[in-house]
Amino acid sequence: MKLKIKDVEFKNPVLTASGTFGYGNELEDIIPVNELGGIVTKGISLKPRMGNPPPRLAETPCGLLNSIGLENIGLEKFVKEKWPEIKKIGPEIVVNIFGEKIEEYVEIAKTLEKEGIRCIELNLSCPNVEKGGLEFGRSERVVRNLVEKVRENFNGVIFVKLSPNFTDIVKISKAAEKGGADVLTLINTIMGMSIDAENMSFKIPRKVAGLSGPAIRPIALYIVYRVYQEVDIPIAGVGGINDIKSALEFHLAGSTLIQIGTALFIDPWIPFKIIKGIEEFLNKKNMEFKSIIGYLNKKRG
Ligand SMILES: Cc1cc2nc3c(=O)[nH]c(=O)nc-3n(C[C@H](O)[C@H](O)[C@H](O)COP(=O)(O)O)c2cc1C
Repeated sequence: MKLKIKDVEFKNPVLTASGTFGYGNELEDIIPVNELGGIVTKGISLKPRMGNPPPRLAETPCGLLNSIGLENIGLEKFVKEKWPEIKKIGPEIVVNIFGEKIEEYVEIAKTLEKEGIRCIELNLSCPNVEKGGLEFGRSERVVRNLVEKVRENFNGVIFVKLSPNFTDIVKISKAAEKGGADVLTLINTIMGMSIDAENMSFKIPRKVAGLSGPAIRPIALYIVYRVYQEVDIPIAGVGGINDIKSALEFHLAGSTLIQIGTALFIDPWIPFKIIKGIEEFLNKKNMEFKSIIGYLNKKRG
C-alpha cells in the first residue's frame, strides 16, 4: 500500500490528523507509531499561542466540539526541540502550519524547508487579519495567492487543508490546485455550537467551536467525492473515520490518503486496525490499493 507523492513515499495511506496526535512522539512508547503512513503535527504558528480558556471540548451526538484556539509552542521551539525528536520516529511527518497573514505562512514554510522538512499542511481555516478576520479558505483569490507564495518558497509536498464553512469548497479546492498544492486535505472541522439549557449558558465559553467525528462524516465524504471530480491532485480525506468501513468509504469516494482525528481519543490503535483491515479487504477482493481510489467516482473513466 506504499504511495509516492512527488519524492515522498508514504508507507501506507493512513495518517493521524492535525491536533489529535500532539507533535507526534507523545505516544511513541505506547503504540508502534513507525507503522503509520504518516503523522500530521499539531498546527504551528510563527509565535507560541496559549490557546482558548477551558472548557475547550464538548461532546455532542456522534461528534466532538473543540475550541482549542490553536495552542502551540511556536516555530522556533518546534524547530529546536520537537523536530529533532520527531524526525527520528519513522513515519513521514507532515507539519501543519497556520498564520494570520500570508507572509507568516511563507516565513514558516521557508524555515521548515531549511530544516529539511519534506511535507507541510497549510491550515486555511484561520482568520486573515488583513481581510477583517475572514478565514483564508473562504476566498479563491486569497487561497491561490497564498498557495502560490508558499510554493515559491517550499519545494516539498504541500497539503492544503480546507473546511466547508460558508464557502464553495469545490471552487476553493480548484484555486488551491492552481496555486500549486500537491494534496488537498478535506475537511477541517465544521463550525458548530452547544448550549447547556439547564444552566442557560454556552458549553464552550468561545460559543463557536469546530465539530468533528462521525457527525461530519457524510459531509466530508460528499466533499471528497465532489472535489475528486474537479481536481487532478490527490486528496487526503478526513472527517469521522473511526473504523475499517469508514476508511474504505473515503477511498472509494476518491481519497488517496486518509487522516484519523477524533477517533484517536477513543482508541489510539484505530489507525493500525484500519491499515490491517484495508490490506485484508484488498486480499479478499483481489485488488490493488490504487484501484479502489475513486472506485465509485467514475470521473477518471
Ligand atoms: C481537538 C482537535 C484539535 C484540532 N486541531 C487542529 C489543528 O491544529 N490544525 C488543523 O488543521 N486541524 C485541527 N483539527 C481538525 C482535525 O485535524 C480534523 O480535520 C477534524 O477533526 C476532522 O476529522 P475527525 O472527524 O477524524 O476528527 C483538530 C481537531 C480536534 C478534534
